[in-house]
Amino acid sequence: MRRPMVVANWKMNTRASDAYILATTVRNAVAPIEGIEVVICPPSIWLAEVAQIVKKDGKVNVGAQNMFYEPEGAYTGEISPLMIVDLAKYVIVGHSERRSYFHENDIIVNEKVLAAIKYGLTPIICVGEQHQSDPLYDAPNQLTEALIHVPKNRYKDIVVAYEPKWAISGFGGKKVASIDHIIKEFTRLREVVGRDTPILYGGSVNETQISELAKRPEIDGVLVGSASIRAASFLNICNTWAKAKSFKTEVSN
Ligand code: PGA
Repeated sequence: MRRPMVVANWKMNTRASDAYILATTVRNAVAPIEGIEVVICPPSIWLAEVAQIVKKDGKVNVGAQNMFYEPEGAYTGEISPLMIVDLAKYVIVGHSERRSYFHENDIIVNEKVLAAIKYGLTPIICVGEQHQSDPLYDAPNQLTEALIHVPKNRYKDIVVAYEPKWAISGFGGKKVASIDHIIKEFTRLREVVGRDTPILYGGSVNETQISELAKRPEIDGVLVGSASIRAASFLNICNTWAKAKSFKTEVSN
């Protein structure tokens, strides 16, 4: 069964003391919340420390925001899946900011997905169109390209995040995409991956818009950027998600 998830993408934010305080606050507050998986993706320089902080009660998992696809070697400045796997369960791959600012294309994203799976990490594969009406950057096509050579029986070991670029706050997005648009894209993505892969929504998710998203059974979770570095906002999102999703479980049972 697909798990409800709330994933924090801190991006290139937090200095050492901020990361320590934020990770500790989230860990403590999430401890009593049942029924969702919470994941923190800090900057890679804080991965080890955040992993150390959250492992105390094991309710929060850790993810890296990016990695290179080679396991080791002369690649100055990069981090490898083998370095991450001892510290984290997840790695974000193909985020729009990587595609836009660091020229990552579908071939590179596919290499990273394959490397993540090979070395025991769960990739959170980000896909999403660049413009509201641009058929060239089509999320299901991006996903199909990202999954080349991934055997279908491993689709349960990946997570997909649908993040239309125009909704991401870092690119000027101010609000969550419309529910109709999200559901339409989720239906198309679901046709690519089948029923076992969690699919998350990302792009301007905050505590004021979360209830609307949480009501939809198609949406398994959210990938939260700017609101995830404000502890109160992020915890509000986690609580709302847990309440909405556990209610659905009760009803469907
Ligand atoms: P945002 O970022 O919530 O700040 O829009 C989401 C993301 O880029 O993952």
